[in-house]
Amino acid sequence: MSVTFAFKHEMEASVKKRRSNVVLALDLPLQKRGELLSKTISILDDVHPFVCAVKLGYHSVLTLGPFDHLQKVLTLADDYELPTIMDCKLNDVGHVNKAMADLFFKVGFKAVTANPFIGWEEGLQPVFEVAHRNGRGVLILVHMSHEGAAEGYGRLIWDQEAKKAVPQYVIFARKALSWKADGAVVGATFPKRIKEMRDILGDEVPIYSPGVGAQGGRAEEAVRAGARYLIVGRAITLAKEPAEAAKALKSSIARQFSALT
Ligand code: XMP
Repeated sequence: MSVTFAFKHEMEASVKKRRSNVVLALDLPLQKRGELLSKTISILDDVHPFVCAVKLGYHSVLTLGPFDHLQKVLTLADDYELPTIMDCKLNDVGHVNKAMADLFFKVGFKAVTANPFIGWEEGLQPVFEVAHRNGRGVLILVHMSHEGAAEGYGRLIWDQEAKKAVPQYVIFARKALSWKADGAVVGATFPKRIKEMRDILGDEVPIYSPGVGAQGGRAEEAVRAGARYLIVGRAITLAKEPAEAAKALKSSIARQFSALT
């Protein structure tokens, strides 16, 4: 099987071109299709110079219609040369995950998110195969950003090889590395854990960090801890001036990266 990691390269090319590490979570709290489409397009038009990629969730995709209005959003993102990520958090048995990933790639997304709790064989292996055969990406949830995330991702479990208890997220980071994931998602609300993850993942698997702003995480702190991309939604989309908010975030993150080099 020929394998390509094109998505990872596409993301870095986008960062280089725009000098932004902000992934825009373009999910708006609107339920009317027409209204959602026009507002989504308007925000993308405004903020595209300040972000490096766009992420969408189920509620946006279902409201817009995957082969209907959503196509207009994905085409616009393509026109702006912004990679698009479907935040579907795949979490089923292998053949179903593969069908979902196939569908999201056919719809036009360049990467999907997936939950490592389901494991490799008959779990995520088929997703990685279909993604990497087609130059698409898989981002693994290593530690989510919300308060309750620690209940599952932070649980101590017995590591048979090391003969000691380690947190679940450490095991997931090791899996992200061995599965050759295109990214690991670690909440900006857990900066110490980002640092731990970066020590495991190095530069091999970039860290995507959601939870900035509305959830209380700080972008600069996440960058200092080792995040490569910041996934940001409401702090931009619900701002009075989304373009100004995105621009300010982009600059502040860029300053933090410069300070680290
Ligand atoms: P806000 O508005 O909080 O939106 O900036 C964040 C976006 O990121 C998603 N999100 C996550 N996605 N793992 C993920 O894969 C996470 O831990 C996580 N936390 C938030 C969320 O769906 C929203 O669109």
